[in-house]
Amino acid sequence: MKVDVLLGLQWGDEGKGKIVDVLTKNYDVIARFQGGPNAGHTIEFDNKKFVLHTIPSGIFNDNTLNVVGNGVIIDPYIFKKEIEILKENGIDVKSNLYISTKSHIILPTHRLLDAVYEKAKGDKKIGSTLKGIGPTYTDKVGRNGIRVGDLLLPYFKNKYEEAKKRHLKLAYVYDDNPLSIKIEGKNFDDYEKEWFDSLETLLSLKLVNSEYFLNNALSEGKKILAEGAQGTMLDIDFGSYPYVTSSNTITAGVSSGLGIAPAKIGRVFGIFKAYCTRVGSGPFPTELFDETGEKLRQTGHEFGATTGRPRRCGWLDMAALKYAIMLNGVTDLMMMKVDVLNDFDEINVAVKYKIDGKETEEVPFDMANVKIEPVFEKLKGWKISLEGITSFDKMPDELKDYVKFIEEKTGVRVSLVSTGPDRNQTIIKENIL
Ligand code: GDP
Ligand code: IMO
Ligand code: MG
Repeated sequence: MKVDVLLGLQWGDEGKGKIVDVLTKNYDVIARFQGGPNAGHTIEFDNKKFVLHTIPSGIFNDNTLNVVGNGVIIDPYIFKKEIEILKENGIDVKSNLYISTKSHIILPTHRLLDAVYEKAKGDKKIGSTLKGIGPTYTDKVGRNGIRVGDLLLPYFKNKYEEAKKRHLKLAYVYDDNPLSIKIEGKNFDDYEKEWFDSLETLLSLKLVNSEYFLNNALSEGKKILAEGAQGTMLDIDFGSYPYVTSSNTITAGVSSGLGIAPAKIGRVFGIFKAYCTRVGSGPFPTELFDETGEKLRQTGHEFGATTGRPRRCGWLDMAALKYAIMLNGVTDLMMMKVDVLNDFDEINVAVKYKIDGKETEEVPFDMANVKIEPVFEKLKGWKISLEGITSFDKMPDELKDYVKFIEEKTGVRVSLVSTGPDRNQTIIKENIL
């Protein structure tokens, strides 16, 4: 058996949570491989809405096991809150949630550092979610991190105190009074106490060496889906650096974030919106600053699932999409939020960039510091509601043409079209189940 992968091809928030939930019934295991509580994955069914941050989106299916892999970073405080909300809704994660002993832990002082680094950057700030992502991954690669397995060992408290001391020293370099920064609306000492209390919840779960757990599952013929967080254009190596997150969000991240050998990767489901959004700072070639952008934001409810910030909106960027398909080895495209375009006479798609007067389809080295002019092609809108449409054949011709246009430009089939946030508002065009 091989591990299938589902990941975002744009700047995150493509609708990964919804589709993982739709696909879950076909898999024995769903595994997150990178990122942390910077992610916000929304799932809607039976008039209920959930936003998951660390827990894989397979958690609503009793028959599926969920794994938080070694590449993920965990904030025990946020994690506990997530578990409590699920519990209130009758979902007990105790039996089907597994945590890697090698996942790194976000400490309260990582969150302080995230805040002071962002403040010091001024108008060059990344627009981080302030969840401590950058500082925690920095400690991981700097070989200073604390992992889930460390929480059980006698030296944990010492390691914690050492890290806190080191982080505070650094925080004072950037800020006169870092301890005055509130975390989750709380004073540092109060938050730290709650953070420590929440370790109990984390430690009550099944802690495993997830690389063995997953590879054994594969050997037993189990089907595994790896769930990405963020998106390709936020990848630490290939995204719009430095306006990126601190992990590898691409298919390669599945190997390092779960311990799955590259030859064991199967289908790669690349998910993208029929337009583009971005939250936080950084380059966005097709961004719209006019009423069309505002219409996309309002119609698509484009406000961050983790931070509530308004998302920046623009047209689909084909150069970036093709780049993402190349980097990830996408076998199937999944096109999201087409319903948001129901009321547009014309739909623009950027098919290439113009940089220094020259046309190119290549994403430049430094997106942030070159002037990119998108070159648009226009497509006709369909101007009708997609409510009640359950098959590809019944879709309006103009939408079919948009799908065909993407397939022709990318050379990859579009296997799924999403027409609304609910589980049931999903049209499966090709065999992915
Ligand atoms: P993720 O981070 O990739 O899981 O995506 P988010 O949950 O952050 O953002 C996607 C948003 O779009 C959520 O509010 C979803 O409920 C919503 N959504 C997902 N698919 C569709 C769709 O096809 N149409 C509409 N209108 N909303 C969708
Ligand atoms: P999901 O999984 C959209 C963005 C932040 C910021 C940059 C760095 O829901 O798609 P970080 O906190 O990671 O240091 O922030 O990355 N970002 C996301 N944008 N969706 C996400 O996750 C994101 N996770 C991080 O807004 O610009
Ligand atoms: Mg999201």
